[in-house]
Amino acid sequence: MKVAVMGYGTVGSGVVEVIESHSDTIPQKIGGETLEVARILDLRDFPGDPHEALFTKDFNDILNDKEIKIVAETMGGVNPAFDFTMKLLKAGKSVVTSNKELVAQKGLELLKAAEENGVNYLIEASVGGGIPIIRPLTQCLAANNIEGIAGILNGTTNFILTMMIEQGMSFDEALKIAQEKGYAEKDPTADVEGHDACRKVCILASLAFGKHVYPSQVETEGITNISLEDVSYINSAGGVIKLLGQIKYISKDSIAAFVSPAVVYNGSQLASVKDVFNAVLVRGDAVGDVCFYGPGAGKLPTASAVVADIIDCAKHTDRKKIFGWGAGAEDYVVDYKSTIKMPFYVRAKADCARVNSVFSEVKYLSRKGQPSDEVAFITDVMTENELTEKLKGFEVINIIKVTNY
Ligand code: HSE
Repeated sequence: MKVAVMGYGTVGSGVVEVIESHSDTIPQKIGGETLEVARILDLRDFPGDPHEALFTKDFNDILNDKEIKIVAETMGGVNPAFDFTMKLLKAGKSVVTSNKELVAQKGLELLKAAEENGVNYLIEASVGGGIPIIRPLTQCLAANNIEGIAGILNGTTNFILTMMIEQGMSFDEALKIAQEKGYAEKDPTADVEGHDACRKVCILASLAFGKHVYPSQVETEGITNISLEDVSYINSAGGVIKLLGQIKYISKDSIAAFVSPAVVYNGSQLASVKDVFNAVLVRGDAVGDVCFYGPGAGKLPTASAVVADIIDCAKHTDRKKIFGWGAGAEDYVVDYKSTIKMPFYVRAKADCARVNSVFSEVKYLSRKGQPSDEVAFITDVMTENELTEKLKGFEVINIIKVTNY
């Protein structure tokens, strides 16, 4: 069976490698046929690459090739990936993708197009890299009402935070290593500002609760304000800082969803997720908490998920998988700042007397080299709006949410 790969970057080249290195075992999984990479679309040249004969810069070479039935889209970005994917689905080809930006923005339209054209649009690699999460969420946990999801969804930021926490490494140095290892997006702003995690939150929320959630609906804060001083205070509280995507069910017409740094205490399953690893904790009403853990970025782990989707398409050429979600609504994602209560970590230029005059109950934290005019503390439970009100007039250095996961 002929397949094509669009985008020969880290993931796309991994897809070709995994298909080829597993050519002896894949046929038995798809009824004896072999998978053959027939075309690779990329605008760049790859002189000396062993697949040189397969490269094309013309999308029509894939679209018009009737023998190509499955296409892996590993280009990233919304355009032209959306246009290409739509044309392929309408031409009766199944598409599998690792492109979370595209799924978060246009998943609804693409899944509908797949449905209408009797083909598959599969997205396992779009969240959590190599971690199986899309199928477990839609199939294995289907009996549950999902109450909430909390995930470490970006490998680059988890790697950076781990290096800061465990080695006292600077943010910039850790980012450089993450880029060298092929974890980061082309523009790492999407990683460190939380946009990549936000896209994955959108996909998980859409799947878990059945209505499309768009990135613009998810309040997002990255890790660029996290300093080694914050790391040190939170260490003294028995916790670590993680970039978390959080989704909470409120009612059938409303959820809360946000991405931000968060304090996770050391007893939590999420606290031990280090380096490039990701974890998604799903809280279901029947199952309780289940945690999916594994490599969240990188060439072969992500390719593992893409190729699994290719195998699934190859197995089900005559059967459309029932999978997807419905339209969203503007007011579907509520303002978490006025609805969700939690404790907060606060670091400010102030003294304890001033803090005590405003907060009824706080836990003070300390660090080596703490200046005499600086305090850090964990508040009791409140909404973020209530916290902002209490901190009026304070010279705040940083605020970080504290989780109960
Ligand atoms: N840049 C992403 C990450 C790649 O670091 O998690 C996987 O989506």
